[in-house]
Amino acid sequence: MRVTVVGTGYVGLVVGACLAETGSDVVCADVDAVKIGALQENRIPIYEPGLEELVERNQSQRRLVFTTDVGAAIRGAEVIFIAVGTPPDEDGSADLRHVLAVAETIGQHLTKEAVIVTKSTVPVGTAERVRAVVARAAQYPFHMCSNPEFLKEGAAVDDFMKPDRVVLGAESDHARSVMTELYAPFVRTGKPIIFMDIPSAEMTKYAANAMLATRISFMNEIAGLCERVGADVDLVRKGIGSDTRIGPSFLFPGPGYGGSCFPKDVKALIRTAHEHGTVLSVLDAVERSNQRQKRRLFEKLEAALGGNIRGTHIAVWGLAFKANTDDMREAPSISLIEALLAAGATVAAHDPAATHEGKRRLGDAIHYANSNYDALEGADALVIVTDWNEYRHPDFSRIKSTLRQPIVIDGRNLYSAERMRSLGFMYDSIGRVPTLETIRA
Ligand SMILES: NC(=O)c1ccc[n+]([C@@H]2O[C@H](COP(=O)([O-])OP(=O)(O)OC[C@H]3O[C@@H](n4cnc5c(N)ncnc54)[C@H](O)[C@@H]3O)[C@@H](O)[C@H]2O)c1
Repeated sequence: MRVTVVGTGYVGLVVGACLAETGSDVVCADVDAVKIGALQENRIPIYEPGLEELVERNQSQRRLVFTTDVGAAIRGAEVIFIAVGTPPDEDGSADLRHVLAVAETIGQHLTKEAVIVTKSTVPVGTAERVRAVVARAAQYPFHMCSNPEFLKEGAAVDDFMKPDRVVLGAESDHARSVMTELYAPFVRTGKPIIFMDIPSAEMTKYAANAMLATRISFMNEIAGLCERVGADVDLVRKGIGSDTRIGPSFLFPGPGYGGSCFPKDVKALIRTAHEHGTVLSVLDAVERSNQRQKRRLFEKLEAALGGNIRGTHIAVWGLAFKANTDDMREAPSISLIEALLAAGATVAAHDPAATHEGKRRLGDAIHYANSNYDALEGADALVIVTDWNEYRHPDFSRIKSTLRQPIVIDGRNLYSAERMRSLGFMYDSIGRVPTLETIRA
């Protein structure tokens, strides 16, 4: 099948590469000439495990082609995915400028009957708006389809290849049958393709992300209470996660959720509710709670340092918003580092994949260490922000002998509090005792 994917970011690139891997002829188009130039040489602009091999293999076999000519990419396509960014507008709503610009190009360049798929996360009613824009210029029949994407950065290829389910909002038999054929290789193990109307598909994506953000914020608040009452959130998490009504996923407390999706999608859904004269009070609270949580690591560090941040030098392990990605959009590391710099500290950061992204966002405001141990040189304390595997089992004696003070603030609960105390660290984490005060006493 001849497929076009417009937008080759985290989503579009994975979608294009995975569809090519199953035999479709895929053209990936993007207006970013630097990105396309790199991709044509098999250089992947993002860190995503497994993606490079897919791109290289399928490009060498000519099933995957990259271009900046979006119009040419659309000509001849039977299925066109719109996978461009939908960043938050000033009022929190999704900015649909890119989506609608692509719709206009599609209308002008359709050369045959096609299915037009909104893959970007877009508010209810967007497919309808895309339809109207395409229809202004289109000379051929086309069918709208909403196919929200549920991949997780860091496991995106696996998630796309083996989805829990595929959600398809479609309103014609043609769209349903084309999309069923396209997705057949991905659901051979019996995972469902869930067909629905387009507004329900659009809403499903927001509801999923809002639910996951809510679980995280709920656990962050429970963690805060655990600290006050002397409970251990890791045990509480296991205790509730084994209840089949609750399940174990997305119950890990941390430094606040970040990334390109949860923050913006929660805001956009709140905005959609306002536009329709209603209030999502749970999500309003989630949003506020997450803003507070993003201050927690700074507050814990400040407490550990006896209120004296000014003049200290702090090591930060992890810049990416989570492990296995280089994405720093809305990352808790940014909130922490900005607060540290504003309070008069200096920062040395390490990240296995996001150093280039850190430099792009934070410039020379901080030092970028080549290894996690280098970051500790001359530091008064270590703060762990991202749960990279290589931070899970470090050389604790080396950490202790390199730090000027044995203070570790662990935003991901990577270590046993008991062990850290016995090793002589002043250790604080999220939702667990002992706290620094206990250790000091
Ligand atoms: N990143 C994720 O984990 C994830 C998961 C599910 C859904 N989504 C959604 O998918 C969409 C894309 O997200 P992303 O993270 O891949 O974004 P991204 O910012 O990484 O990539 C978007 C790409 O679109 C390109 N683009 C913008 N305007 C264009 C135009 N007019 N023509 C061609 N290309 C254009 C940009 O140059 C960029 O390369 C968003 O709506 C997002 O909410 C993202």
